[in-house]
Amino acid sequence: MRTSVTVYAPATVANVASGFDVLGFALHKPGDFVTLKKKEKKSVDIVAIEGDGGKLSLDAALNTAGVAVSGYLKAAGFPFGVDIILKKAMPLSSGLGSSAASAVAAVYGVNLLAGRVLPRQELLPFTLHAEEAACGTPHADNAAPALFGGFVLIRSYEPLDIVKLPVPAGLAAAVVHPHTEVRTADARRILKKELRLVDAVRQWGNLAALVAALYQEDLGLLGRSLQDVVAEPLRSLLIPGFPGVKKTALENGALGCSISGSGPSLFALCASLEEAGKVGRAMQQSFLKEVSLESDLYVSEVNQEGPKVVED
Ligand code: HSE
Repeated sequence: MRTSVTVYAPATVANVASGFDVLGFALHKPGDFVTLKKKEKKSVDIVAIEGDGGKLSLDAALNTAGVAVSGYLKAAGFPFGVDIILKKAMPLSSGLGSSAASAVAAVYGVNLLAGRVLPRQELLPFTLHAEEAACGTPHADNAAPALFGGFVLIRSYEPLDIVKLPVPAGLAAAVVHPHTEVRTADARRILKKELRLVDAVRQWGNLAALVAALYQEDLGLLGRSLQDVVAEPLRSLLIPGFPGVKKTALENGALGCSISGSGPSLFALCASLEEAGKVGRAMQQSFLKEVSLESDLYVSEVNQEGPKVVED
């Protein structure tokens, strides 16, 4: 039986334009590394965090990895505790699902330490409690793709009903993270609580067509479906240079472009890795030209694997 394990869990793009809170996909990189060490004392302790610039709390009750592991151990009644070392290898408050990646890596790891007692789908609720602790809402559109890989649709939250969707061959994403922060809680607060029927009709038309496009490998339909009339019009106001950068992505051949999760990162879906690299570099230039913002670029095919053990 393992006594220690290090797990990598990937960054994710949530919402994917029309799927607010119900759709997300996983990237190969960046991601977070979580090391878990089993101990006799029945406490969950965050012993070190690297790569967060000192911003995250070492209090396990305030950290998504700590919350997920505590929930798991409590629910399963295991007679052991865990020391956790977090290595954040992606930016915080970037819209890349950083809090979900840590929670997913942590709960996947503790399940291995316990002897893989729960099937993967039963790990998801522990990560949602962690997301709730981090931003006030237990949204699953980062945690589910980080845990299962690929594109994941959340048909229902109560009860949880998760649908894994197919990924068209070669589909790749450029994700550009401008060096500014948007907290998920703030980006949720600015959304309207009610929708006009006309907007709801456009949104569900686009979401249904996006799902059909994934099944049919129809990249034209996928591109036409990547529209968000619910969150993007409000949240884009929090991202300096957004209209120009999105326009640049589309002019350079992106299938579509929108906000990654709650932002400030933008994602562009493209027909190949090569295209995604070209589109991403143009978006970075645009951020510089429009609003003098430096950015990081991540180019990745869709990660179909989810978390993985990197060290025993
Ligand atoms: N669906 C969530 C939101 C994702 O948009 O608030 C947060 O990354």
